[in-house]
Amino acid sequence: MTLIKNICCIGAGYVGGPTMAVIAKKNPHIKVTIVDINAERIAAWNDKDLTKLPIYEPGLAAIVKETRNKNLFFSTDINTAIAESEMIFISVNTPTKTYGKGKGMAADLKYIELCARNIADVATTDKIVVEKSTLPVRTAEAIKSILHNTGNHINFHILSNPEFLAEGTAIEDLLNPDRVLIGGDSEEAIESLAKIYGAWVPQQRILRTNLWSSELSKLTANAFLAQRISSINAISELCELTGANVNEVAKAIGMDSRIGSKFLKASVGFGGSCFQKDILNLVYIARTYHLNEVADYWEQVILMNDHQKRRFSDRLIKTLYNTVSGKKIALLGWAFKKDTNDTRESAAIYVADHLLSEQARVSVYDPKVSSVKIQSDLNYLNTRTEDENLKLVQTVSNPYEAAQDAHAIAIMTEWDEFKDYDWQKIYKSMKKPAFIFDGRNILEKSKMEAIGFEYFAIGQ
Ligand code: UDX
Ligand code: UDX
Repeated sequence: MTLIKNICCIGAGYVGGPTMAVIAKKNPHIKVTIVDINAERIAAWNDKDLTKLPIYEPGLAAIVKETRNKNLFFSTDINTAIAESEMIFISVNTPTKTYGKGKGMAADLKYIELCARNIADVATTDKIVVEKSTLPVRTAEAIKSILHNTGNHINFHILSNPEFLAEGTAIEDLLNPDRVLIGGDSEEAIESLAKIYGAWVPQQRILRTNLWSSELSKLTANAFLAQRISSINAISELCELTGANVNEVAKAIGMDSRIGSKFLKASVGFGGSCFQKDILNLVYIARTYHLNEVADYWEQVILMNDHQKRRFSDRLIKTLYNTVSGKKIALLGWAFKKDTNDTRESAAIYVADHLLSEQARVSVYDPKVSSVKIQSDLNYLNTRTEDENLKLVQTVSNPYEAAQDAHAIAIMTEWDEFKDYDWQKIYKSMKKPAFIFDGRNILEKSKMEAIGFEYFAIGQ
């Protein structure tokens, strides 16, 4: 078993940052260096002011404070970090391709390949290379081939070690994982990594599999989770028409131990960097193998999610007498879920875009998301010019300002603080009738109606 004294992680993002911080905390004898091509991001990780870390996760700042510049380092010097380490995690992003073959479906592996080539160029000693990014099945084959054809007689072992952390609870998920999955074909390399996790994870929770099972398990886990949300969201629409209440249905089926209670919260639609990307990926792989029924089956999870987002904004517009033109609509929440500043694939982006296309004026408040991010999310869609987005979308620093003179409030993220607002005060400041569209079912219908709101939730 290789004794690991130095770890390098390429990619200081939502996955690399928290994962390495926890590994460093639990393995004080290992030097962990996180590198990134983005110098600004590295500078933010090194900022003395811990509120300026590039990623917000409960509990993260405290661990960074404890370990940074002791055995956790952030750097842009990728080559040195690779050269010094016995183990290298690849934790760069693998977005859905926006060009060429597989556009809109396949994962773009160019960053992964760049990393592999970078490692091949720089390495002078044996390395264990760990895929942390979510990758299509058999990506390890490509990495292997690049590394093994360098001709410099270095031994490379490839492991797949997908993360199962959810944003907002990343630190907790890392500290108490249901399981850690390590796929590989070298028992020695697998045990080197198992030892690192063994510093805090019980051995029976560390699963060893072959490379391909590990890669496919990650895609499968995300597909199953997303499928549950799309399933309950499909039922939510039926509830609205039949008088059933989706919360009651979810509770009733969730108490069946075969089904379980988690991931049954009806919502305006799932977001985040993983679900859509990973399912598209699965669909693409299935199509590549000509498994059209398999591809169609999983694709429907995405189509249902698109429908749920669209249905939410359609209902809002319809309720506001079929027009939102010139009306102010307040969006509470922009992040794809609470306790994170991540907005990738957030339902709020699509709902806002639809409302803007209907000429609404949108005012956004999110406790952790900046106006720069909100504008760039909208600009990325390319529906209208940057100037128009700037003109039509206002970002404010408190919810009361967002609601002032608004015709409707749409709740897009389930931030806890939304429950404790002075809703009486908000009601008074709004245009009447004052509408609330609760895309997360977090407010109490009876309480809101007692204040005077016209309240609409999902599936009720
Ligand atoms: C990403 C993927 O979204 C996820 O599927 C995978 O499981 C892990 O990687 P995340 O950490 O959330 O997750 O991505 P992101 O926050 O974008 O971080 C990736 C980082 O890699 C960025 O900071 C980027 O600058 C960096 N990067 C990218 C490199 O350092 N080198 C590259 O060649 C490409
Ligand atoms: C997910 C997986 O949970 C994690 O294991 C994987 O490693 C990465 O992808 P993440 O995207 O961070 O994590 O968040 P998650 O908590 O899974 O939520 C995804 C989306 O589904 C969010 O928009 C959330 O609001 C939504 N959701 C979740 C629902 O709408 N209803 C639910 O019941 C649960």
